[in-house]
Amino acid sequence: MHITMIGAGYVGLVSGACLAEFGHDVVVLDKDPAKIEALLGGRIPIYEPGLEKLVAENVRDGRLDFTTDLNHAVSRAEAVFLAVGTPTRRGDGHADLSYVFAAAEEVARAVTGPVVLVTKSTVPVGTGAKLREIVRRIRPELAIEIASNPEFLREGNAIGDFMRPDRVVIGVDSERAEAVLKRLYRPLFLIETPVVATAVETAEMIKYAANAFLAMKITFINEVADLCEKVGADVHDVARGIGLDGRIGRKFLHPGPGYGGSCFPKDTLAFARTGQDYGSPMRLVETTVAVNETRKEAMAGRIIAACGGSVAAKTIAVLGLTFKPETDDMRDAPSLTVMPLLAAAGAQLAAFDPAGTEVARPLLPAGVRYAENPLDAASGADALVLLTEWNEFRALSADRLKTAMRGDVVLDLRNVWDPAVMREAGFRYHSIGRP
Ligand code: UDX
Repeated sequence: MHITMIGAGYVGLVSGACLAEFGHDVVVLDKDPAKIEALLGGRIPIYEPGLEKLVAENVRDGRLDFTTDLNHAVSRAEAVFLAVGTPTRRGDGHADLSYVFAAAEEVARAVTGPVVLVTKSTVPVGTGAKLREIVRRIRPELAIEIASNPEFLREGNAIGDFMRPDRVVIGVDSERAEAVLKRLYRPLFLIETPVVATAVETAEMIKYAANAFLAMKITFINEVADLCEKVGADVHDVARGIGLDGRIGRKFLHPGPGYGGSCFPKDTLAFARTGQDYGSPMRLVETTVAVNETRKEAMAGRIIAACGGSVAAKTIAVLGLTFKPETDDMRDAPSLTVMPLLAAAGAQLAAFDPAGTEVARPLLPAGVRYAENPLDAASGADALVLLTEWNEFRALSADRLKTAMRGDVVLDLRNVWDPAVMREAGFRYHSIGRP
């Protein structure tokens, strides 16, 4: 099939490359000539394991192309995917749909035959209906069908998530659109991936409900972890003890400094706003948003308390800046809340991240010393804080860290180290929800 992907961002690139890998002919369009030029030269503007290789192979085999020319991009398309950004709108927390609507208008003007216009971007319930109005107004003579096909890709694992998903959600309002999308995902049905074929509004709702539920689950275990600390219980055993109940499930019960990233913060906020708009408040989601925000701030307070109530003129080393491992994405990363608060309290900061330093640098307080490796970051520090659970931090030698540091305080906000080992090495070791 011939497919166009509008937007060479994270979702567009991963989805475009994976659909090409399925055997389709995919053209990915972006307005940014520098981005397209880089992609044509084999350079991938984001860090995602496996993506560079997948793109290179599919370009080589002639199934994947990049362009800034919309007419060229859609000339043979049977399906056009919208994978443009839907950031949080300034001021009110709604999703900003201006890029989605602008792209839909341009596509409607450019297409030359019947086509299915599919939203991949996360869009609030009702967006599909608005898109339908737009394309009908611009091209009343053409059969342009609207569909919603939300993605559930985790950064760092996106290719695996696309190739072996738990399910494919297809929101359609015509048999033709359903047939086109089912043909597109045929390779997944051969491996018996369940498909949820439903109305467009329902598909839009599924995406928000899924992300809000996962964000709620994380926030729940975070609060349970705090209570565990007070009563002397171990949150990991609690998570396992409840997660083995199939109705609850074991995933997304790992406590930490609060969720971040490009999806959960933005989507929970937008979902809560939709609820308010329709007079059907999503109170659990609203509370999740608020609890997660205060949690990131509370992490700074926790660090200051562990340092004896003041970090003035103390050196704090931070390991991990990105919102999670295996990405250079800094969007809503806990480091963006925690580090400015520590700097404002007078701390000197050193930091190391395996992939995110360049993205992080302009976003973090001036004066942070960016180290070459974890031991270099810890060198001379009074306290060490682990914010992101990159694998390379797991195997660090506690003794070597201790020797490098001046002080003895460690805050492991992802529970990657063994408390007994850390105490043995002479650390005053703090983790989340463990006695
Ligand atoms: C998420 C969803 O998983 C994906 O389906 C959706 O399409 C986009 O948003 P992503 O943001 O890439 O993906 O990362 P994810 O692995 O889900 O983690 C999100 C945040 O939750 C991270 O900050 C992570 O550290 C945190 N998290 C996750 C926890 O704190 N505990 C957990 O148990 C799981």
